[in-house]
Amino acid sequence: MKRDPVLDAELSHAADERVVVTLRERAFAAMERAYAPYSNFRVGAALLGSDGSIWDGCNVENASFPAGICAERSAVSAAVAHGVQQFDAIAIATEAQEPTPPCGICRQVLEEFAPQMVVMSITREGKSARWTLGELLPRAFTPHSLDRR
Ligand code: THU
Repeated sequence: MKRDPVLDAELSHAADERVVVTLRERAFAAMERAYAPYSNFRVGAALLGSDGSIWDGCNVENASFPAGICAERSAVSAAVAHGVQQFDAIAIATEAQEPTPPCGICRQVLEEFAPQMVVMSITREGKSARWTLGELLPRAFTPHSLDRR
C-alpha cells in the first residue's frame, strides 16, 4: 500500500502513548463538566493541536434542544478561538458501554481542519476504538468542493 508521509507523521504523533494517556485524562475530566440534563449522555473531548496543545470540550445542551452543541465541536471552537487550526487527534470520552464514534456534524467540522486526523473513542471501562477521519467520513464535502462553482 502507498504510504502517505503526512498521515504517517500524524499517526506516529497521536500514537505516542504519553500523549494518548493525557488525552484520555483530559477527555474524561471534560466529560465531568458536560451539561447534559436532557439526554444524560455526557461527552468529553480532548483535541490535540499539531503544536502539541490540547483543547477540552464537552457537550452543552439547551432547553431548546437543537441549540445544544457536541463535545467535539466545542473543543474545535475553543482551539480556533485561541488561534489553533491544525489538529492531529481527538479523544472522545463517554459513559457508554462501547466506544462511540463522533456524530456526522462533528465529523464534518473536524474535516474542515484536519481531514487526516486520528479519532479515538474511549469508555470508562477502558475499551477503545480508533479511526482516521477519512474512514469515518469518506468522500467528504471539503473547502475544495467550493472550487467547483
Ligand atoms: N454528543 C456529543 O457530544 N458528541 C457526539 O459525538 C455524539 C453526541 C452529545 C449531543 C447530546 O448532548 C448528547 O450527546 C446526546 O446525543
